[in-house]
Amino acid sequence: MTSIGILGAGRVGTNLARKLSAAGHRVTLGVRNPDDTAALAADIGPQIAFADQPTTARATDIVINATLGDTSLDRLAGLRTELSGKLLVDVSNATRDADDGLPGALCYPGSSLAEQLQSALPDTHVVKTLNTMLFMVMTAPETLATPPTVYLSGDDQDAKKTVTGLLGDLGWQPAWIEDLGGITTARATEAMILVVPPVLRRHGFRPFAVSLAR
Ligand SMILES: NC(=O)c1ccc[n+]([C@@H]2O[C@H](COP(=O)([O-])OP(=O)(O)OC[C@H]3O[C@@H](n4cnc5c(N)ncnc54)[C@H](OP(=O)(O)O)[C@@H]3O)[C@@H](O)[C@H]2O)c1
Repeated sequence: MTSIGILGAGRVGTNLARKLSAAGHRVTLGVRNPDDTAALAADIGPQIAFADQPTTARATDIVINATLGDTSLDRLAGLRTELSGKLLVDVSNATRDADDGLPGALCYPGSSLAEQLQSALPDTHVVKTLNTMLFMVMTAPETLATPPTVYLSGDDQDAKKTVTGLLGDLGWQPAWIEDLGGITTARATEAMILVVPPVLRRHGFRPFAVSLAR
């Protein structure tokens, strides 16, 4: 059992919390206002704890960033001490909204949020993953009609091995996991987000992942 802190209790954060908790991990959801979680706690169940985000980052072994990507760098850089020595799994997308509220442009063209985070958090192992699919696919990849891909980017092999184990707990088969290499490869998967809005506009909010076919 691992202690996992998830920063952000939105669609992604709560979805991951449920599945990782069901897989036997000790999960804490890091929220902005821990005094206002009664409704969420009733919905998500008593096995998942709540805390503020600095406490969550400090008290857990693995931290998942499921907060809004365009403001993640400032937020997480402010948690450098809490995140020191930890594994940070970044699943966010740092984008500027188009007029309809869907992602319209990258915040870090020519780089990536994951690279910016790794540079701001030199004592933390950052691994980018799971950002190339709708949130429901993250925890139910087997429900898609074609085998999906999940990508890994990160400089530390042991950290990626740990994340590979977590992906297995979420339902990802080894053949579906594509280790692209170091953290700079996250600029490729973060750019994949630009495929998502036109697909959603055309097909609606139907689950999909941006995947490799061979
Ligand atoms: N939705 C998807 O299908 C999907 C797929 C792939 C990747 N992503 C990425 O995953 C991340 C989360 O997406 P989401 O769909 O879960 O978004 P969401 O439902 O809007 O939730 C985002 C959460 O971030 C937290 N947050 C927002 N502003 C914050 C701030 N200033 N300080 C601290 N926490 C703040 C909030 O948590 P609290 O209010 O509880 O504190 C909020 O619930 C985004 O970066 C997104 O790009 C989403």
